[in-house]
Amino acid sequence: MKVLLVGSGGREHALAWKLSRSKSVYRLLAAPGNPGIGALARNLPNTAAEDVPGVVRAALDHRVDLVVVGPEAPLEAGLADELSAAGIKVFGPTASAARIESSKAWAKDLMRRHGIPTAEHKTFHSAAPAHRYIRSMPEGAAVIKADGLAGGKGVVLPTTKGEAERAVSSMMGGAFGKAGSTVVVEERLSGVEVSVFAFVDGTKVSAEVAACDYKRVYDGDRGPNTGGMGAYSPPEFWTDDLAGLVRRQILEPTARAMVAEGCPYQGVIYAGLMVTLEGPKVIEFNCRFGDPETQVVLPRLATDLVDVCAATAEGRLEDVEVVWDGRAHVAVVMASGGYPGRYATGDPITGLESAAASALVFHAGTASTPEGGIVTSGGRVLAVTGSGADLSEARARAYDSVRAIKFDRAHYRTDVAGRAVGAPV
Ligand code: AMP
Ligand code: GLY
Repeated sequence: MKVLLVGSGGREHALAWKLSRSKSVYRLLAAPGNPGIGALARNLPNTAAEDVPGVVRAALDHRVDLVVVGPEAPLEAGLADELSAAGIKVFGPTASAARIESSKAWAKDLMRRHGIPTAEHKTFHSAAPAHRYIRSMPEGAAVIKADGLAGGKGVVLPTTKGEAERAVSSMMGGAFGKAGSTVVVEERLSGVEVSVFAFVDGTKVSAEVAACDYKRVYDGDRGPNTGGMGAYSPPEFWTDDLAGLVRRQILEPTARAMVAEGCPYQGVIYAGLMVTLEGPKVIEFNCRFGDPETQVVLPRLATDLVDVCAATAEGRLEDVEVVWDGRAHVAVVMASGGYPGRYATGDPITGLESAAASALVFHAGTASTPEGGIVTSGGRVLAVTGSGADLSEARARAYDSVRAIKFDRAHYRTDVAGRAVGAPV
């Protein structure tokens, strides 16, 4: 098969790595790709992931058999719909199914209508009633969310009612553009967070896999939220009982709910959960793989990824057995100093080859120079994944490789998977 991968981040480098190992792929293209992906695929650097007509044109021009979409933005913009209309097979949901991520209010209503466990919430289109609702809640009990896609920055966890009210005013005042004109105020949950992934072909839900993600920029979960600073899989608390609850109460009912709503879900579903004392509850759904969770879960996929994606796209998941192996994986993200605020780019990166001897080094914000070097070009620069028989071994390998890689003002968390192995944090 000839496969076109859409995207350019660390998640997509992990997808490219796994796709390139498939026995069914004879050619891999990436739009636009990155230097790491370029070592495995032919990059189409002039075709941006968000350029829906451009991606459709590239898929037609190159006569690809399957398109695999990494990020959410092109899915929200209808890339899967446009590719299907052009007769091209695509792995990823339609725009109407992608609302499970692109509209938090829609996703919350779906969960409420179908009895899927989630935090209590109310949706508001103007500030005054939202402020009144916040005042009726206990101090620190509200979470404020912009309805639309806000690049992972549309969630505020205020400690006081005043802060909560200001967050509502700022979102409705246009801080996130249209994404904040509708705001969801929800109950704050406590427990342990976990990201769960499964392939869904409309009706069938594959075996699931779980990972933990580190969202804050600094050790000890301090500092602002980022796209993700590290991940590990499998989580130390992930048991068959918990997995069974998540399947029966969340994943399978959600697939059925999407069919009932007239927008069957096809692709990978990402359930961001809080495991509370009352059981697992949904914090959010995403319509794609996580970043950096993909960098720790795809190495565990024992099944051919292209076979899984094609079967998912064709509604015949029963034909493949999705198997996740039990090896432990830890990914540490190396970011540009200053991220998620302002940061420098263009700094040379060294040590990549020696790091790759003992870990998987996935590129995210990198660029190649005319001289053949690699420099930084984004906030999250690399994700380094170590593997092992257990999380301690995987973690040691990841950090050994991270220490071999150098660039100016490199920043990474030193506590990824630390709590799982009893390391001091
Ligand atoms: P999101 O962008 O929806 O992933 O939210 C970012 C982070 O905010 C999540 O990873 C959680 O840590 C936290 N969060 C979101 N909603 C809630 C909630 N209802 N209760 C507690 N924490 C939450
Ligand atoms: N790691 C969080 C996300 O991909 O949304």
